[in-house]
Amino acid sequence: MVDIKRIVVLGAGLMGNGIAQVAIMAGYNVTMIDVKQEFVDKGMASISTGVNRLEEKGLLSAAEVLGRLKTSLDLASAVKDADMVIEAVVERMDVKKEVCKTTMDNGPSHIIYASNTSTMDITEIGEDCGAPERVSGMHFFNPVPLMRCIEVIRGDKTSDETFQITMDVARSLPCLRGERYIAPVLKSRPGFIVNRLNAPVGIYSHYIRDLAYEKGIPWEQLDADYAVLKSPMLPGVLSDYVGIDTSYYGALYYVEKLSPDFKPGKVITMMFNEKKLGRKTGQGFYDWSEGRPTPDTSIKAGLVDFDIIAAIRMNEGCRLLEEGVAKSYTVIDEANMAGMNTPGPFGRGKDRYKDFVKKLEEFVALTGKTYLTPCEMFKTGKFLEMA
Ligand code: 3HC
Repeated sequence: MVDIKRIVVLGAGLMGNGIAQVAIMAGYNVTMIDVKQEFVDKGMASISTGVNRLEEKGLLSAAEVLGRLKTSLDLASAVKDADMVIEAVVERMDVKKEVCKTTMDNGPSHIIYASNTSTMDITEIGEDCGAPERVSGMHFFNPVPLMRCIEVIRGDKTSDETFQITMDVARSLPCLRGERYIAPVLKSRPGFIVNRLNAPVGIYSHYIRDLAYEKGIPWEQLDADYAVLKSPMLPGVLSDYVGIDTSYYGALYYVEKLSPDFKPGKVITMMFNEKKLGRKTGQGFYDWSEGRPTPDTSIKAGLVDFDIIAAIRMNEGCRLLEEGVAKSYTVIDEANMAGMNTPGPFGRGKDRYKDFVKKLEEFVALTGKTYLTPCEMFKTGKFLEMA
């Protein structure tokens, strides 16, 4: 099996620099690439800050770790002596396919290409590169150094060896908040495990946000409904953190791949058009000009029904089992906990599944969102055999 020593990280943005940081901390020699020097410099500054903070805590030598990091603007020459590329470029299929091909055309014959995509099909990314058996997926969660989960995705053509090497590299990357959790994704289906599990909650969130907007309810009151979950970030803050454009494009992707019911709601569309994209533009649901907002959650909107959310997630988890994407509901729950720091739907909810099926059928009747119709495995309780 190929011994991975030199990794090219393609993309110096939030994801890319997080990946590069954990890769140099793991001992790999890394070249971080982007299309403009200013992007590379920004990514480099972020890594230096992170690594220096760890040195202050006595956990590593910053000079030694940073000594393993180089930067470049030229993919074709950087891959010449690399063993693996971890790609974290913009979520556009044409761009991903192009850089995958550049890697295979210019890299050594053993080079592996792992795409860090949130939703896109690994099989399609690799289809024109000439070596689809050496293409896999590695889906990280933001912020990479702090979130434990990495999903490793097998495309239709990914070889056993490539999948195994990608799993091994993923396992070797340190996490600053506990043990890494590597979720094998057995089929490349939209959104893989964690994003797919939560994607149809978007259908409900669009519905609720549009309802709150119509009723003139402030966002912090809507977020206050969720405070009971004690999640690390309230949904409005998290949407801003990840980027309204990410949610918008993500929804459009699911429209194309899964159902028109994923269409972005009025509120998200309005914010997208007005460039209120969250943290990156300083304004989204909240004002970010003074850092991460802490909404006042003392007044609740009283709009959110958590049983419906639980039912939607459990139904989607059952679809993942039906489609053979995940091998058990435990993997789904654990991946969600490691990727979002919130519990998955099965552990707490499985004993109430019959109530949830009924609730979901009522919600479908009310809204006409037929994508949410309970699937066979959920309705019959057959998922209980796949612990
Ligand atoms: N290097 C070194 N140290 C770092 C660091 C870095 N890069 N980044 C943070 N740290 C340190 C901080 O300095 C801090 O150190 P201290 O405790 O000594 O002060 C420590 O790590 C913890 O940092 P924070 O104070 O920022 O951590 P919090 O306790 O506030 O937790 C969080 C932050 C883990 C991000 C938490 O808010 C959370 O779980 N949020 C939810 C995030 C989430 O859901 N992510 C998934 C998004 S979806 C996604 O990514 C999928 C994709 O497809 C888009």
